[in-house]
Amino acid sequence: MRMNSFSTNALRNVLEIITAKYKTEARLLNLFETELPIYRPRDRSENENVIKVTRDVNWANVFVLASPDYHGSMSGTMKNFLDFFWKEFSGKTFGYIVSSHEKGLTVMDQMRTAVRQCYAWSLPYGISINESEDLDSNGQVVSKKLQSRMEMLARDLVVYGGLIYWQFMKDKGSSELNTFAHYYL
Ligand SMILES: Cc1cc2nc3c(=O)[nH]c(=O)nc-3n(C[C@H](O)[C@H](O)[C@H](O)COP(=O)(O)O)c2cc1C
Repeated sequence: MRMNSFSTNALRNVLEIITAKYKTEARLLNLFETELPIYRPRDRSENENVIKVTRDVNWANVFVLASPDYHGSMSGTMKNFLDFFWKEFSGKTFGYIVSSHEKGLTVMDQMRTAVRQCYAWSLPYGISINESEDLDSNGQVVSKKLQSRMEMLARDLVVYGGLIYWQFMKDKGSSELNTFAHYYL
């Protein structure tokens, strides 16, 4: 929720790698620009941003969640976004980016927990950005290590995300009973 947010810039970078290198499509949902109302159960109102975001969430089969570290937690904006969905995330793979002065591991864990509750999958690692070490004054990535982790995240999301979603859709349409896709959908 900040102009020139470090986490949003890093997300933009990862999406650029994904589209340029792997010939896939990506959409950036910036909740700073596309504000969502506070989630209220059973109030799937006519809010046009909720409708647009729901369309995008249904469209995607892989997600990258990017949040700053706010008091060791994900931002309230991110949690509010996650509250709107669950089945829409099932069978999909998530990667994580956190901008923090303290690595943001608790932030990543919380996003991972929310995602797991929705029967979605997470990459086993995430990306932590520390603005004073990894970026220059224009917000450009100067850390080679960070750049290579972003390349790794992009690659693994495309490869593992594709495999998992492919299997999930196959299980969903199958008569085999003991799969989590069959049980939950
Ligand atoms: C309300 C608030 C709480 C924060 N709490 C923490 C914190 O607990 N630990 C930390 O390392 N940074 C904390 N920060 C700093 C931000 O996480 C940090 O500046 C981050 O790089 C901002 O990311 P952004 O550029 O994407 O907004 C906090 C910032 C704000 C505004």
